[in-house]
Amino acid sequence: MQKTTLYGKMVAEEVEILVDELSIRRRVKELADEISRDYEDLKPLIVAVLRGSFVFVADLIRELEVDAKVDFITLENYEAGCNARGQTRVMADSTSHLSGEHVIVVEDIVDSGLTLHYLYKDFLAREPKSIEIVALLSKASSRRADVRVKYVGFEIPDRFVFGYGLDLQGKYRGLPFVACLKDDREA
Ligand code: XMP
Ligand code: MG
Repeated sequence: MQKTTLYGKMVAEEVEILVDELSIRRRVKELADEISRDYEDLKPLIVAVLRGSFVFVADLIRELEVDAKVDFITLENYEAGCNARGQTRVMADSTSHLSGEHVIVVEDIVDSGLTLHYLYKDFLAREPKSIEIVALLSKASSRRADVRVKYVGFEIPDRFVFGYGLDLQGKYRGLPFVACLKDDREA
């Protein structure tokens, strides 16, 4: 894997690729086509959850065939770490008013679902016309909160993943694929 050598210490043997570059590209196009059909006559407001979704949303909007506005929100979990299980708070809010908008939340990954559960409730109180969620990745087996994600890119096993916007201790967001460490089961 040529790209892995660009990242210095991370050699190919340590990394297991869960979703490769071509699969991501194809699936992002499929999701964009689906969203374009569903929002044909609407001008949705896309709100991407930073930081992990910045690569995904950049690719997604370039495949969309609807005129969408794009904004960002930064969330933070109180207990940072591999398994986000703490409380969520808004660190930097979206600058757009959600009232009367058809909002599409773009998230990198749904794990327990607690983050999106919090965000959904917060956004609902701002009286948008509609809210739907798109997530590139989902770990359905570790869901703890009931959250309806209309558009899911890939269901993945309960492993800590990075690449394509997601980080491993602040690194590897630029990898074009989604990977996990081979030995993370023992970690
Ligand atoms: P919850 O559990 O609230 O988690 O659905 C959602 C947030 O937790 C982060 N997260 C991950 N980040 N690799 C990451 O880089 C992962 O495997 C992972 N699982 C959860 C992520 O920020 C997500 O928004
Ligand atoms: Mg995130």
